[in-house]
Amino acid sequence: MTLYEAIFKRYSMRQFEMTPLDRDTLERIVRFYEKMTSLFPGIETEIGITEALNGKRAPGGFFGVKAPYYLTFYSEERDRAEMNAGYLCEQLSLFLLTLGIGSCFLGSARIQGAPKSRENKKTMITMAFGKPSGRLTRRPEQAKRLPLKSLCVFKNPPTEWMMKVLEAARLSPSALNRQPWRFAVVGNRIHVFSKKDRMDRPRRLAEFDFGAMFAHIAVASEELWLDIDLIRLDNISQKNFRSNQYVLSAIVREQ
Ligand SMILES: Cc1cc2nc3c(=O)[nH]c(=O)nc-3n(C[C@H](O)[C@H](O)[C@H](O)COP(=O)(O)O)c2cc1C
Repeated sequence: MTLYEAIFKRYSMRQFEMTPLDRDTLERIVRFYEKMTSLFPGIETEIGITEALNGKRAPGGFFGVKAPYYLTFYSEERDRAEMNAGYLCEQLSLFLLTLGIGSCFLGSARIQGAPKSRENKKTMITMAFGKPSGRLTRRPEQAKRLPLKSLCVFKNPPTEWMMKVLEAARLSPSALNRQPWRFAVVGNRIHVFSKKDRMDRPRRLAEFDFGAMFAHIAVASEELWLDIDLIRLDNISQKNFRSNQYVLSAIVREQ
Protein backbone atom coordinates (compact mmCIF):
# COMPACT_ATOMS: atom_id res chain seq x y z
CA MET A 1 0.00 0.00 0.00
CA THR A 2 1.33 3.46 -0.89
CA LEU A 3 0.69 6.66 1.08
CA TYR A 4 -1.76 7.70 -1.63
CA GLU A 5 -3.69 4.43 -1.40
CA ALA A 6 -3.74 4.83 2.38
CA ILE A 7 -5.74 8.07 1.99
CA PHE A 8 -8.67 6.02 0.68
CA LYS A 9 -8.39 3.27 3.27
CA ARG A 10 -7.63 5.04 6.54
CA TYR A 11 -10.10 5.56 9.33
CA SER A 12 -9.74 6.55 12.97
CA MET A 13 -9.06 3.27 14.71
CA ARG A 14 -10.22 2.99 18.32
CA GLN A 15 -9.92 -0.78 18.96
CA PHE A 16 -6.42 -2.15 19.19
CA GLU A 17 -4.71 -5.42 19.99
CA MET A 18 -2.68 -4.76 23.11
CA THR A 19 0.39 -6.44 21.63
CA PRO A 20 3.89 -5.09 21.03
CA LEU A 21 5.24 -3.89 17.70
CA ASP A 22 8.71 -5.11 16.84
CA ARG A 23 11.68 -2.80 17.29
CA ASP A 24 12.30 -2.51 13.54
CA THR A 25 8.75 -1.21 12.97
CA LEU A 26 9.13 1.40 15.71
CA GLU A 27 12.45 2.48 14.21
CA ARG A 28 10.90 2.80 10.76
CA ILE A 29 8.26 5.14 12.16
CA VAL A 30 10.95 7.37 13.66
CA ARG A 31 13.00 7.30 10.44
CA PHE A 32 9.93 8.25 8.37
CA TYR A 33 9.29 11.20 10.70
CA GLU A 34 12.93 12.31 10.41
CA LYS A 35 12.81 12.28 6.60
CA MET A 36 9.63 14.32 6.22
CA THR A 37 9.82 17.97 5.21
CA SER A 38 7.78 20.50 7.11
CA LEU A 39 4.98 22.49 5.53
CA PHE A 40 6.61 25.64 6.87
CA PRO A 41 10.37 25.20 7.17
CA GLY A 42 12.13 26.36 10.29
CA ILE A 43 9.56 25.14 12.83
CA GLU A 44 11.33 22.76 15.21
CA THR A 45 9.41 19.59 16.04
CA GLU A 46 10.02 16.33 17.86
CA ILE A 47 8.13 13.08 18.49
CA GLY A 48 8.03 10.76 21.48
CA ILE A 49 6.58 7.24 21.60
CA THR A 50 5.06 5.96 24.84
CA GLU A 51 4.49 2.24 25.25
CA ALA A 52 1.27 1.46 27.10
CA LEU A 53 0.85 -2.27 26.66
CA ASN A 54 -0.64 -2.76 30.12
CA GLY A 55 -3.45 -0.32 29.26
CA LYS A 56 -2.80 1.78 32.34
CA ARG A 57 -1.76 4.93 30.51
CA ALA A 58 -4.95 5.18 28.48
CA PRO A 59 -6.56 8.62 28.68
CA GLY A 60 -10.03 8.51 30.17
CA GLY A 61 -13.20 10.27 29.08
CA PHE A 62 -15.41 10.02 26.06
CA PHE A 63 -12.66 11.00 23.63
CA GLY A 64 -9.98 8.78 25.14
CA VAL A 65 -8.77 5.69 23.30
CA LYS A 66 -7.00 2.68 24.82
CA ALA A 67 -4.05 1.73 22.67
CA PRO A 68 -0.73 -0.09 23.08
CA TYR A 69 1.27 2.97 21.92
CA TYR A 70 0.89 6.74 21.88
CA LEU A 71 2.86 9.11 19.75
CA THR A 72 3.22 12.60 21.17
CA PHE A 73 4.00 15.33 18.67
CA TYR A 74 5.90 18.34 20.04
CA SER A 75 6.48 21.64 18.30
CA GLU A 76 7.82 25.10 18.91
CA GLU A 77 4.97 27.55 19.33
CA ARG A 78 5.23 29.65 16.21
CA ASP A 79 2.88 31.05 13.62
CA ARG A 80 1.31 28.12 11.70
CA ALA A 81 2.88 25.54 14.06
CA GLU A 82 -0.43 23.68 14.44
CA MET A 83 -0.95 23.51 10.70
CA ASN A 84 2.58 22.21 10.31
CA ALA A 85 1.86 19.60 13.00
CA GLY A 86 -1.30 18.45 11.20
CA TYR A 87 0.63 18.18 7.94
CA LEU A 88 3.36 16.00 9.45
CA CYS A 89 1.11 13.93 11.74
CA GLU A 90 -1.34 12.99 9.00
CA GLN A 91 1.54 11.73 6.85
CA LEU A 92 2.72 9.70 9.83
CA SER A 93 -0.77 8.28 10.22
CA LEU A 94 -0.86 7.29 6.52
CA PHE A 95 2.60 5.76 6.80
CA LEU A 96 1.50 3.70 9.82
CA LEU A 97 -1.36 2.29 7.75
CA THR A 98 1.09 1.19 5.04
CA LEU A 99 2.83 -0.82 7.80
CA GLY A 100 -0.44 -2.48 8.85
CA ILE A 101 -0.88 -0.22 11.88
CA GLY A 102 -4.01 1.79 12.69
CA SER A 103 -4.11 5.14 14.48
CA CYS A 104 -6.39 7.80 15.92
CA PHE A 105 -5.61 11.43 16.77
CA LEU A 106 -6.45 12.47 20.30
CA GLY A 107 -6.98 16.21 20.37
CA SER A 108 -6.99 16.82 24.09
CA ALA A 109 -5.77 13.62 25.72
CA ARG A 110 -2.82 13.58 28.08
CA ILE A 111 -0.88 10.34 28.33
CA GLN A 112 0.65 9.44 31.68
CA GLY A 113 4.38 9.18 31.35
CA ALA A 114 4.64 11.42 28.27
CA PRO A 115 6.10 14.84 29.16
CA LYS A 116 3.87 17.81 28.28
CA SER A 117 6.75 19.68 26.71
CA ARG A 118 10.28 19.04 25.60
CA GLU A 119 12.72 21.96 25.86
CA ASN A 120 11.14 24.77 23.81
CA LYS A 121 8.47 22.52 22.30
CA LYS A 122 5.00 21.80 23.59
CA THR A 123 2.60 18.95 22.88
CA MET A 124 0.53 19.67 19.77
CA ILE A 125 -1.34 16.38 19.56
CA THR A 126 -1.24 12.76 20.64
CA MET A 127 -1.88 9.83 18.34
CA ALA A 128 -2.97 6.40 19.59
CA PHE A 129 -1.59 3.58 17.45
CA GLY A 130 -1.11 -0.16 17.26
CA LYS A 131 -2.20 -3.33 15.50
CA PRO A 132 -5.92 -3.46 14.84
CA SER A 133 -8.13 -5.76 16.86
CA GLY A 134 -10.55 -5.84 13.92
CA ARG A 135 -10.25 -4.57 10.37
CA LEU A 136 -7.30 -2.42 9.35
CA THR A 137 -8.91 -0.47 6.53
CA ARG A 138 -12.21 0.98 5.36
CA ARG A 139 -13.67 1.60 1.93
CA PRO A 140 -13.65 5.30 0.93
CA GLU A 141 -17.44 5.36 0.44
CA GLN A 142 -17.80 4.42 4.12
CA ALA A 143 -16.07 7.65 5.19
CA LYS A 144 -18.64 10.17 6.41
CA ARG A 145 -17.66 13.16 4.33
CA LEU A 146 -19.41 16.00 2.53
CA PRO A 147 -19.57 15.53 -1.25
CA LEU A 148 -17.23 17.61 -3.39
CA LYS A 149 -20.17 19.56 -4.75
CA SER A 150 -20.81 20.95 -1.25
CA LEU A 151 -17.15 21.81 -0.71
CA CYS A 152 -16.08 23.35 -4.03
CA VAL A 153 -16.97 26.10 -6.42
CA PHE A 154 -15.35 25.86 -9.84
CA LYS A 155 -14.59 28.88 -12.00
CA ASN A 156 -13.87 26.65 -15.01
CA PRO A 157 -14.37 22.92 -15.67
CA PRO A 158 -11.69 21.13 -13.56
CA THR A 159 -9.14 18.71 -15.04
CA GLU A 160 -9.20 15.04 -14.12
CA TRP A 161 -6.09 15.42 -11.97
CA MET A 162 -7.55 18.41 -10.15
CA MET A 163 -10.60 16.28 -9.23
CA LYS A 164 -8.28 13.58 -7.87
CA VAL A 165 -6.41 16.10 -5.73
CA LEU A 166 -9.71 17.49 -4.39
CA GLU A 167 -11.03 14.00 -3.66
CA ALA A 168 -7.93 13.28 -1.57
CA ALA A 169 -8.46 16.58 0.29
CA ARG A 170 -12.13 15.72 0.89
CA LEU A 171 -11.20 12.49 2.67
CA SER A 172 -8.98 14.21 5.27
CA PRO A 173 -9.76 13.63 8.92
CA SER A 174 -10.74 16.58 11.11
CA ALA A 175 -11.52 17.07 14.78
CA LEU A 176 -15.15 15.99 15.37
CA ASN A 177 -15.30 15.42 11.62
CA ARG A 178 -16.13 19.11 11.10
CA GLN A 179 -14.54 19.26 7.63
CA PRO A 180 -14.01 23.01 7.91
CA TRP A 181 -12.49 23.39 4.43
CA ARG A 182 -14.09 24.96 1.39
CA PHE A 183 -12.41 25.28 -2.01
CA ALA A 184 -12.67 27.87 -4.77
CA VAL A 185 -11.01 26.28 -7.78
CA VAL A 186 -9.77 28.62 -10.49
CA GLY A 187 -7.76 26.87 -13.21
CA ASN A 188 -4.83 25.21 -11.45
CA ARG A 189 -5.37 27.18 -8.22
CA ILE A 190 -7.21 25.89 -5.19
CA HIS A 191 -8.09 28.81 -2.93
CA VAL A 192 -8.71 27.28 0.46
CA PHE A 193 -11.20 28.78 2.89
CA SER A 194 -12.25 27.91 6.40
CA LYS A 195 -15.96 27.81 7.06
CA LYS A 196 -16.78 30.34 9.74
CA ASP A 197 -18.44 28.89 12.79
CA ARG A 198 -19.81 31.54 15.13
CA MET A 199 -20.54 29.16 17.97
CA ASP A 200 -17.05 27.85 18.22
CA ARG A 201 -14.34 30.43 17.70
CA PRO A 202 -11.41 30.39 17.96
CA ARG A 203 -11.24 26.70 17.21
CA ARG A 204 -8.17 25.18 18.76
CA LEU A 205 -7.73 22.30 16.35
CA ALA A 206 -8.84 23.98 13.13
CA GLU A 207 -5.29 24.77 12.01
CA PHE A 208 -4.32 21.16 12.64
CA ASP A 209 -7.24 20.00 10.45
CA PHE A 210 -6.03 22.21 7.60
CA GLY A 211 -2.51 20.83 7.94
CA ALA A 212 -3.86 17.27 7.66
CA MET A 213 -5.85 18.28 4.58
CA PHE A 214 -2.76 19.86 2.97
CA ALA A 215 -0.95 16.57 3.64
CA HIS A 216 -3.56 14.77 1.54
CA ILE A 217 -3.15 17.36 -1.23
CA ALA A 218 0.64 16.93 -1.10
CA VAL A 219 0.52 13.12 -1.13
CA ALA A 220 -1.96 13.09 -4.04
CA SER A 221 0.14 15.62 -5.98
CA GLU A 222 3.25 13.52 -5.54
CA GLU A 223 1.41 10.41 -6.73
CA LEU A 224 0.05 12.23 -9.79
CA TRP A 225 3.38 13.86 -10.70
CA LEU A 226 2.16 17.33 -9.91
CA ASP A 227 4.12 20.20 -8.39
CA ILE A 228 2.46 22.12 -5.65
CA ASP A 229 3.12 25.51 -4.07
CA LEU A 230 1.28 26.88 -1.07
CA ILE A 231 1.00 30.63 -1.03
CA ARG A 232 -1.03 33.33 0.65
CA LEU A 233 -2.47 35.78 -1.85
CA ASP A 234 -2.82 39.32 -0.54
CA ASN A 235 -5.63 40.22 -2.93
CA ILE A 236 -7.79 37.45 -1.43
CA SER A 237 -6.70 37.79 2.20
CA GLN A 238 -7.78 41.44 2.20
CA LYS A 239 -11.31 40.62 1.09
CA ASN A 240 -14.04 39.98 3.62
CA PHE A 241 -16.24 36.93 3.03
CA ARG A 242 -19.47 36.47 4.95
CA SER A 243 -19.26 32.78 5.80
CA ASN A 244 -15.69 31.84 4.96
CA GLN A 245 -12.23 32.92 5.98
CA TYR A 246 -9.33 32.72 3.56
CA VAL A 247 -6.56 30.31 4.59
CA LEU A 248 -4.08 29.71 1.74
CA SER A 249 -3.94 28.88 -1.95
CA ALA A 250 -2.46 25.73 -3.45
CA ILE A 251 -1.07 26.18 -6.95
CA VAL A 252 -0.96 22.79 -8.64
CA ARG A 253 1.04 22.30 -11.84
CA GLU A 254 1.77 19.38 -14.12
CA GLN A 255 5.50 18.56 -14.01
C1 LIG B 1 -7.23 17.29 15.25
C2 LIG B 1 -8.02 16.05 15.51
C3 LIG B 1 -8.37 15.69 16.80
C4 LIG B 1 -9.08 14.51 17.05
N1 LIG B 1 -9.37 14.17 18.34
C5 LIG B 1 -10.00 12.98 18.58
C6 LIG B 1 -10.21 12.53 19.94
O1 LIG B 1 -9.84 13.20 20.91
N2 LIG B 1 -10.83 11.34 20.14
C7 LIG B 1 -11.25 10.55 19.08
O2 LIG B 1 -11.80 9.47 19.32
N3 LIG B 1 -11.07 10.96 17.77
C8 LIG B 1 -10.44 12.13 17.51
N4 LIG B 1 -10.20 12.54 16.21
C9 LIG B 1 -10.66 11.70 15.08
C10 LIG B 1 -11.86 12.34 14.39
O3 LIG B 1 -12.99 12.25 15.21
C11 LIG B 1 -12.07 11.64 13.04
O4 LIG B 1 -10.96 11.90 12.22
C12 LIG B 1 -13.32 12.10 12.32
O5 LIG B 1 -14.47 11.82 13.09
C13 LIG B 1 -13.46 11.42 10.96
O6 LIG B 1 -13.50 10.02 11.11
P1 LIG B 1 -12.46 9.10 10.34
O7 LIG B 1 -11.07 9.62 10.69
O8 LIG B 1 -12.68 7.72 10.87
O9 LIG B 1 -12.72 9.22 8.89
C14 LIG B 1 -9.48 13.70 15.96
C15 LIG B 1 -9.14 14.08 14.65
C16 LIG B 1 -8.40 15.23 14.41
C17 LIG B 1 -7.99 15.58 13.01
